[in-house]
Parts: sequence; structure tokens; C-alpha cells
Amino acid sequence: MDKIDTFRRYGLFDARVPRYTSYPPANHFLEGMGQRHQHNWLQSVPDGSDVSVYIHIPFCKRLCWFCACRTQGTKTMRPVNAYVDILRKEIAAVRATLAPGIKMSRLHLGGGTPTILSAQTMSTLLREVFDAFQTAEDFEFSVEIDPTEAEPPLLQTLIDLGLNRASLGVQDFAPQVQEAIGRAQTLEQTETVIDFLRSNRVKSLNLDVLYGLPHQTIESFTQTLKHVIALQPDRLAIYGYAHVPWMSKRQVMIREEDLPDPMARFKLAQCAEQMFTENGYEPVGIDHFAKPGDSLALAAKQGRLHRNFQGYTDDQSPTLLGFGASAISTFPQGYAQNAPATFAYQERVNATGFASFKGFEMTPVDALMARVIEDLMCRFTFDEKALGKAFPKHLDAIHAMAVSLMQKFSDVFFISGDGLKLNPEAYPLVRVIAGYVDSRTSKKSSHSSAI
Ligand SMILES: C[S@@+](CC[C@H](N)C(=O)[O-])C[C@H]1O[C@@H](n2cnc3c(N)ncnc32)[C@H](O)[C@@H]1O
Ligand code: SF4
Repeated sequence: MDKIDTFRRYGLFDARVPRYTSYPPANHFLEGMGQRHQHNWLQSVPDGSDVSVYIHIPFCKRLCWFCACRTQGTKTMRPVNAYVDILRKEIAAVRATLAPGIKMSRLHLGGGTPTILSAQTMSTLLREVFDAFQTAEDFEFSVEIDPTEAEPPLLQTLIDLGLNRASLGVQDFAPQVQEAIGRAQTLEQTETVIDFLRSNRVKSLNLDVLYGLPHQTIESFTQTLKHVIALQPDRLAIYGYAHVPWMSKRQVMIREEDLPDPMARFKLAQCAEQMFTENGYEPVGIDHFAKPGDSLALAAKQGRLHRNFQGYTDDQSPTLLGFGASAISTFPQGYAQNAPATFAYQERVNATGFASFKGFEMTPVDALMARVIEDLMCRFTFDEKALGKAFPKHLDAIHAMAVSLMQKFSDVFFISGDGLKLNPEAYPLVRVIAGYVDSRTSKKSSHSSAI
């Protein structure tokens, strides 16, 4: 097929679709729902099962202009320390609601910048977490690190408490790009943190890279990618820059005329894919790469990949407990999201110990859609037989979806075994395809670019 023509025909270069880190996406959550259900859902987590824990630290010393994460700038540690005190209360309240034998299989600290905490504050927070949750046998502990904000005593505290994975933000090393996105970060700073982590046996490292940034050219990006590959991360996340200034006000600092157009974005993404695969990385989903022996690469090959709010994961736990402002908890029954503003979050925890303010209770049809979309995003398949087995009351709807997909996307799907498989060349279309089957998302929505 002529790839570019096919992509254009299916609207890849114009479409704005959710990233589908959840189904339904968080903009469908309803006020009041989280609070009503969170308590019951926590109580229904089976005793003896494993849960994953996510802790959100919404503070940064610098606010990079490109960043769409929920975070706020701070010059002092006072609000950060006050926030950690509230986090500890929330962790205690949630733990007291759960059955005693529940263990923690994953702990992830994200942000913002978790490494903004002092070593002392981090240690206090983590002791609360480890006192609350016994760890499962294959426990994994990961942290997001801004390499310009990662002091050795803090890193050492994380390592002493069991850190075994880290994700470092790179974005782009080109000075002109860094200037245009308000994020200065040298290769040396990044290398120093990587060396420290590796010399302390933190073996699994991920680097985040962005394409679609202002002033990025194939030449400049190739140079960044060479540096990134030379750092030999175990995993790579390559995200398309989401320019959403209506959601992330700081992005008004980025001049739209400096941004690559959709076709240039596509070529930058292709350039990264080619360089990563030529250098021994295997593609994982639509925006990750990993070394062949890495657990994410293995999960992708074995069909065990999942998607959560952090992106692709091999975490198999159906329950993810989110702590902190804006954090989202996932249960088999639905989602509960904490109040996004730090002040509102703190007020809620002080009042009741819990902070959820929005949520979503899955209907059986939503659960089916969530499975269809996760299968597409993680496995590039629509397996009619497996779906029928899992959702026997919806055989007609499943068959209708298969027919509709085949009619709409006839030249990119092929029939395989008991269902449909997407032609690997058409993987970049998968968000557009997910948006097509998604009955809830408005087709004229304000999501980020599909490429
Ligand atoms: C919480 S942030 C960064 C962690 C850490 N504070 C740092 O600066 O390295 C996690 C990742 O989200 C990605 N990200 C942030 N804003 C984005 C945007 N507008 N579009 C796409 N990805 C974005 C970046 O790749 C970033 O490394
Ligand atoms: S990229 Fe990291 S340091 Fe920059 S604003 Fe976002 S969370 Fe903060």
C-alpha cells in the first residue's frame, strides 16, 4: 500500500483523538461518581491479591513550557512538605479500608517531579508506604526523574529503599529546541544521573523523547537520537508533542509557527522508529521501544501488554491505587479520580481521608469497549472469538463492530484466525481506529494530534 496516501485517506494527519490510556478517557469522568464508589470498590479488592500504587507529586522547580502534566512551580519546599503530610494521611485512610492481606506489586512515583523532595521527606513518605503495604514477591519500584533535579542523597534514599526502575525525561538535546520549549538540560547532566543509577544497580532505565517540538528537524533530531541510543536505555518512550494550550496554559509560550506540520511530525516519528529498530530495540505498542530481553518487550511479544495512565505496562494487576492531587485509581468496576488542584485535594483529605471527586462506573458495554480498545492499542487486533468468550451477552454487537471495522478499514486489516489483525505498516493509524469504534468520544473533540 502507499502508506502516506492510506494514512491521509483515514485522516491521520488531521485527526485529534484520545491517547486511550484509559477507556473511557478521563474527560468522561463524572463529578460525584468517584466519591460514591471509591470506598466500596476499595473494600471489594480481594484479600491476598496484589495492587499497584501510583503517587503523584505535582511540583517542579522549573515549569517547562511544553509540559502538559499536572504540576505547579514552586521555589520553596514548604508546599511540597505540607503536601507530603497530606499524602501520608490519604495513604493511611485508603490502607485502613483495604483487606489486611493485600500486597503491593508495583510502586510508581510520578509527577511533576518526584525527585524535588528532600532525601528526608522522601524517606518519611516511603516509610509510610512500606508500613502500609507489604510488598509482593516480584515487587517493582519506579520513579520519574528530571535529570536536572536529582541530587545524589535523594537518589541514594530511593535506592536504599529498593528503587529498581527509573524513567528519565530527555525530550530533545538540541539547544535551539530546548530554548524553544523552556527546558535546558545537558547531555552531561543526563549521563551523570544514569551513571549514578547504574552504578547503584538500578538496572532498568527508560528515557522519554518527544517528536513534534518547535525547530526540530530530521538532522537535529537524528543527533538527539544518536545521543539517546548511546546512553543505552533499556526502554524508550517516544511521544508526539501534544500542543494543547487550551488545557496547559504554559504552552502559549511555544510559538505555533515554529512547530513541525503533521507530515513533518510523521517523518520525525518514522526517523526515531528506524533508528531504534536498527539499533536493536523492539517496538512496543505505538510509542515505546525496549531491548529484546526487557520485560515490556517480552509482554508485547506474549500478548500481555496493558495500558494505564502512565502508558504501556506489563503490570497485570486489575487494581491501581492513585494517591495525590489528580491521581486516578483504577478498579475492575471503574475509575476514581482525586481532586486535581492541590488545595482542593488537601482540603478533601483533611476532611475525610479520601480525595476522589470524579469517577466512572463501567457498564458491561463500557467494559467491552475498554477491552476492544486495549486490544487494538496493545495487540493491534480485534479478536472476535476471544471477545465473544469474554462478553457472551454481546455477540451481536461484537460481530457488528468487526463488520464495521472491515468495511471502514478494509485495506489495513486482514482476517487472521478468529478475528482481525492490523497490518504492521498501518500501526500508526491505531488511535484513529480506536477513535472510530469508541462510541463515547466526540469526533470533533479537543484531543491531541493523532500523529
Ligand atoms: C511527568 S513528565 C516528566 C518527568 C520529569 N519531571 C522530567 O521533567 O523529566 C513525564 C513525561 O511526559 C511527557 N510529556 C510532558 N508534556 C508532554 C506533552 N505536551 N506532549 C507529549 N508528552 C509530554 C514528557 O516526555 C515527560 O518526560
Ligand atoms: S517536564 Fe518535568 S520538570 Fe518540566 S514541567 Fe513537566 S513535570 Fe515539571
